[in-house]
Order: sequence, then structure tokens, then C-alpha cells
Amino acid sequence: MILFFKRKFRVVFLVSGRGSNLEAVINNIKNKKLKNVKIVLVISDNPEAKALEIAKKNKIRAIYLYPGEYKTKLCGEAEDNYIKTIKKVKPDLIVLAGFMRVVKEKFIKSFQNKIINIHPSLLPKYPGLNTHKRVLEAREKETGCTVHFVNEIVDGGKRIIQAKVKVYPDDTEEKLSKRVLEKEHIILSKAIELIAQKKVVYENWNDNPIIIED
Ligand code: GRF
Repeated sequence: MILFFKRKFRVVFLVSGRGSNLEAVINNIKNKKLKNVKIVLVISDNPEAKALEIAKKNKIRAIYLYPGEYKTKLCGEAEDNYIKTIKKVKPDLIVLAGFMRVVKEKFIKSFQNKIINIHPSLLPKYPGLNTHKRVLEAREKETGCTVHFVNEIVDGGKRIIQAKVKVYPDDTEEKLSKRVLEKEHIILSKAIELIAQKKVVYENWNDNPIIIED
């Protein structure tokens, strides 16, 4: 009798902190909402990241990797080391989930069209940091979150999926970020599922994101 084992879709996470998006994906794999997906490695640029604990508690290999001398980017030897370490585990997808560094050309070219990022705004609005503060200052009526492919423009790659979140007059950064984060936890797993099932393929995808209304 010949048995065919379906190879699992191999995902690497890059993280820096809290790890709630990582945890949401782990939970969806555990409860089988996300099928045939395996997180093969979690890498943090911060040895104190709670995300590392979350991964280890779930028996996922998790390591701190020295990110080099710069605070906001990966480059030089450190970048090479990240590339080498990730290549070894033969990933199908790399997820930047709260990874607080810009990845540059060499890294992106090493994993062509295989990197996604989760960002807490409705891109192309509010790329970069402090999104909720800027949304409130601009008195936006809605905001949200986006999962997108990573290219060399920061937060500028093709958008895969977005969830909208209403902004209320009495919102604070804290309240708003909490509601947006709940949606992040939904759309990140969804994006991984769509890519794993080849329903979203970079080459055929035209930056027309799936939208989930609030
Ligand atoms: C999230 O808001 C994500 O959109 C942003 O960084 C935050 C990471 O949160 N890129 P967590 O570490 O997943 O809890």
C-alpha cells in the first residue's frame, strides 16, 4: 500500500514583541481552522519578546537572532544570517508579525514573493508607525488593518486582505488598537490560508484586497 502524505505549508514568523498575531495563528492551527499549515520557526530580533515564549509553549522552534547594529533595519552580516537561517527550514511563506524592522532588497530577493506583513491601518492610508494616533488626529471615520505582500516600499506591496473598523467619537488609541487587533487576528490566518491553498498567488494577484466590513 502506498501512502501519500500531504506536505504541510511551511511558515516562518519574524516577530519583535507581544506575539498576539502569532498566537492567533497558532490557535487556528490547533483548532483546525487553518489546515495543513505548520509554523516551522519563529525568529525574534528581541530576546525578551513574549512571542518567543508563546512559540516555545506551543513546542514551536523559536530563536533570538542578533539583528545587527541598526535599530530599524536588517542589513550586513545580520541580514545574511537571517537569510541563511530561514533558508535552512525551506519555508513556503515568511510572515512579518510585529517585526519592528524594515527588510531590504537582499532579504526580499532571497524569498521572492513569499513574504507578507500585517499592518494596523487600511493601506495605502497610514503606512509606517503610530497609525492609530494619526487616524484619531485626522478624525477618520474608519480605519482597519491590512495583510500585504512585502516589497521594497515600506507597507507598499500588493494588498491581500483588509478588515475595516469604525472609529467612534470617544475612541482613544488604546480602545481603537484593541478593536483593530481583534481583526488582525482574523485576517492574518485568512491570508495564510488563501496563500497556502493557492487561492492568492502573487503573480496573478492585482492589489485588489478582499475587504471584510466592520
Ligand atoms: C500589530 O498591530 C501589527 O499590525 C503590527 O505590530 C503589532 C504586532 O502585535 N505590525 P503582536 O506582536 O502580533 O501582538
